[in-house]
Amino acid sequence: MQLKAFIICLMATGAYACTDGQLPSNQQAHAANNITKPEFGGQTPPKGTGATYCGNHGNPYGSNILLIDKKWVSSFKYVAQFYSPPETTESWNIVVWNKCGKDGGVDGFFGEWVQNFQIAPSETKYVVFDEDSQGGWGAAPGTSPVLNSVGSCASTWGEFDFANAANNASGYDVSSIAAQNATLTVQGMQICATQSNNCSSISNSGTVINAYTEANQDRNDIAPWLIGDGPVTLDVTINFSG
Ligand SMILES: *[C@@H]1O[C@H](CO)[C@@H](O)[C@H](O)[C@H]1NC(C)=O
Ligand SMILES: *[C@@H]1O[C@H](CO)[C@@H](O)[C@H](O)[C@H]1NC(C)=O
Ligand SMILES: *[C@@H]1O[C@H](CO)[C@@H](O)[C@H](O)[C@H]1NC(C)=O
Ligand SMILES: *[C@@H]1O[C@H](CO)[C@@H](O)[C@H](O)[C@H]1NC(C)=O
Repeated sequence: MQLKAFIICLMATGAYACTDGQLPSNQQAHAANNITKPEFGGQTPPKGTGATYCGNHGNPYGSNILLIDKKWVSSFKYVAQFYSPPETTESWNIVVWNKCGKDGGVDGFFGEWVQNFQIAPSETKYVVFDEDSQGGWGAAPGTSPVLNSVGSCASTWGEFDFANAANNASGYDVSSIAAQNATLTVQGMQICATQSNNCSSISNSGTVINAYTEANQDRNDIAPWLIGDGPVTLDVTINFSG
């Protein structure tokens, strides 16, 4: 499996490529489009291997990840459904990035958000992904992402790998590595795939199930994965209490 390399590489990079966090105009158009079915842009050919593998990051950049209205969800194969539990007391911010940035390096989490939105208590929002997309998301209370001193997302991460063309598998996990490294709050998050019995989670009180932390970051057998390139629907609960 490539997932070990994927995860370790995501965290190990020293590359910097920050943007101002504004969405490219095509994503704004897609997010706002509630009349016609949203569509991905073109696909980019995969590059690299193992830790530096970059699959499809969309052409134009980021057009492989769309925030869509619920009514379109059944038209897409790779979906993350973000849910904020009712006991949440405020709106949370979610940013989504590609593993690889515009420069082709493993640095999309340095501010190259391809989606950036808020979610209210009890609300569900839907993000869809094109084939061979890898990356992550961060979720935290408020209206902007939590960053570390070098501009990388440093709340709890969710990581995704949909229909990886190099290993013909999909995978997902929750990771507190970035938050712990920055000595910042580890927010609870759970990710379950409807096609699998396995969830990955870290609860608000710190219970870790199939998830990455500073203590286990060198292990290669943590992220749940699904063989093949079939549909994957991830149910993502933010502010997860367990
Ligand atoms: C999209 O339209 C549906 C009704 O078809 C409506 O319920 C929903 O709030 C709209 N979403 C947005 C983001 O405007
Ligand atoms: C840890 O934080 C430092 C900055 O304090 C950063 O340079 C480094 O990339 C981070 N490492 C991880 C694994 O997040
Ligand atoms: C997934 O669940 C199966 C049992 O359904 C278990 O054998 C396997 O170890 C789990 N894998 C992960 C990565 O959690
Ligand atoms: C990927 O795996 C699925 C399920 O095992 C299989 O049907 C398909 O042919 C595989 N595709 C590639 C490109 O290997």
